Amino acid sequence: MFTIANIETKDKPDFYHQLNRQVKALFEGERDFLANTANLASLLFYTMPALNWVGFYFYKDNQLVLGPFNGKPACVRIDMGKGVCGTSAANRQTERVDNVHEFPGHIPCDSASNAEIVVPLIDNERLLGVLDIDSPQFSRFDDADARGLQLIVKTLLDCSDLKA
Ligand code: SME
Repeated sequence: MFTIANIETKDKPDFYHQLNRQVKALFEGERDFLANTANLASLLFYTMPALNWVGFYFYKDNQLVLGPFNGKPACVRIDMGKGVCGTSAANRQTERVDNVHEFPGHIPCDSASNAEIVVPLIDNERLLGVLDIDSPQFSRFDDADARGLQLIVKTLLDCSDLKA
């Protein structure tokens, strides 16, 4: 059984350092990408404060398709360039949105969401999908969250077998 350790710190770099250690422990002995994304969605949902949705979209046939997540049922397909996820995937850059209601083309999936961060999953220039996180708290994600989540995504990709 994996026990989620409580992370007590007000310092975001330290929070993500501790979280990254738990992520590595969670993946120990398992390199299946789907299994690792499923467990990571759960770990993030239960360790990061003030979230209402955490999940993955996978890049398939020039679209993003819903993958493992924690939270309410969400939209299944997102076109490249659409919404926060499609923008992040098309630009291959982290998108950080303080107020989703002001983001042109934001795709609402849960009315509780007010802020969002999306980190692309890129393996050797190949787009695999995105990690999408929603919060009810406006301006929930800052640059320290972006850097911390990019580290977590790197651990996911390093610790998983990625299909060619
Ligand atoms: N809000 C996202 C869609 C996915 S949900 O938040 C789960 C977007 O605008 O791309």
